[in-house]
Amino acid sequence: MNLTLKVWRQKNADSKGSFVTYEVKDISSEMSFLEMFDVLNERLVSEGKEPIAFDHDCREGICGTCAMYINGRPHGPWHATTT
Ligand code: FES
Repeated sequence: MNLTLKVWRQKNADSKGSFVTYEVKDISSEMSFLEMFDVLNERLVSEGKEPIAFDHDCREGICGTCAMYINGRPHGPWHATTT
């Protein structure tokens, strides 16, 4: 599966941010959204680029730390779920 992501990147609160488009290829539909970001970040680091920062902790839907705004909705399309 391939995905096109438009990720808001902003170095700090004083800098101007912008959306950056990333193509993520050959990812499994069984991956969580966070695992997909891990794959993308491994690629960015191998290319000498800054990885995407995101909060997470348990990755099991318990702590609620992985708050993201996906496709215009908090946490994505599913009701009452974490990212
Ligand atoms: S990291 Fe704990 S619910 Fe997402």
